[in-house]
Amino acid sequence: MTTPLQNDRFLRALLRQPVDKTPVWLMRQAGRYLPEYCATRKQAGSFLNLCKNPTLATEVTLQPLERFPLDAAILFSDILTVPDAMGLGLYFSEGEGPKFERPLREEADIMKLAVPDPEGELKYVMDAVREIRRALQGRVPLIGFSGSPFTLACYMVEGGGSDGFPITKTMLYSRPELLHHILSVNAKAVTAYLNAQIAAGAQAVQLFDTWGGMLSHAAYQEFSLRYLAEVVSGLTREVDGQRIPVIVFTKGGGQWLEDIAAIGCDAVGLDWTTDIGLARQRVGQQVALQGNFDPTALFASPDAIRKEVGRILGAFGHGNGHVFNLGHGISQFTNPEHVAVLVEAVHSLSQDFHQ
Ligand code: CP3
Repeated sequence: MTTPLQNDRFLRALLRQPVDKTPVWLMRQAGRYLPEYCATRKQAGSFLNLCKNPTLATEVTLQPLERFPLDAAILFSDILTVPDAMGLGLYFSEGEGPKFERPLREEADIMKLAVPDPEGELKYVMDAVREIRRALQGRVPLIGFSGSPFTLACYMVEGGGSDGFPITKTMLYSRPELLHHILSVNAKAVTAYLNAQIAAGAQAVQLFDTWGGMLSHAAYQEFSLRYLAEVVSGLTREVDGQRIPVIVFTKGGGQWLEDIAAIGCDAVGLDWTTDIGLARQRVGQQVALQGNFDPTALFASPDAIRKEVGRILGAFGHGNGHVFNLGHGISQFTNPEHVAVLVEAVHSLSQDFHQ
């Protein structure tokens, strides 16, 4: 028996159905800007321990919801759990972000790459999804997520974060068949991983294509979008008569909105560089839009935050199909009180647009 949802605004907006207010959640809503998150992480010993302990992952997933009336919860995990489960050896070095012990550079290693079993090496993620669903008791829907095949490949080949991913791009131009092989394994891995999250209880899923936007126009289609399309077409889209909406977020993908909307997703995420009103004119008949408040604007005064929220709501205009979010993840230096201002402003200022 599934508990009925008390607040389904987020799912309704993704399906472009009428809502009373515009729903809002924030990318990285559970994170270091919250002192309670930092305390739990300290208790866990490290970020990865936190991800791998379903009870602690549940605790931090719920923390932002205790503070703010957000309309969705997002699974606390990371996109790099998938390459970790493929044997690359994920670790986080202080101040340097994620790293892999065994980056994928050699043809022989690339050819050995295999799809991990989501209920095997990644069972801790599915256990977290199940535990979070129980803890939520239907308050709001739970979002599952994965990195896009291309964004995962960037970290796998490069061995960590980087400015421009030159090793990955060199492979793209000089050995495209090797990169295609990685992408095709990643697409299968991501599809299986998201379908397992959906089976475990995720009520919507988001694909994070953080680095697709650094590709040339032609390379985006060939190396990122094509594999996003493969994933979207392989996803479970209905559970117990409920549609499971799929959100695709390519950071820097504003010029390709029509192409992204055409792969069969329910919603397209926008970073802050795109005008959401123009985006709606371009693709709003086909998909919902999610975004697109500049996360840096949360450093400004409460008045400036309210004004910017009002501007974005006004740019989208009246009617359905908008999920309010940031244009990228929230900064660790954000004042939580400013987040409260943003969430309150979205809910109060948006009511006029849903009359
Ligand atoms: O949105 C959420 O609240 C859910 C949790 C979530 C995390 N990472 C937690 C996290 C999600 C959805 C992600 C996605 C993710 N992870 C992406 C795609 C989105 C994006 O930001 O572009 C990427 C590229 C990663 C890889 C990653 N993980 C990086 C580059 C870093 C280091 C950067 C940083 O902020 O330190 C991480 C670590 C990470 N993932 C943290 C959190 C809360 C901070 C770790 C800590 O507590 O020290």
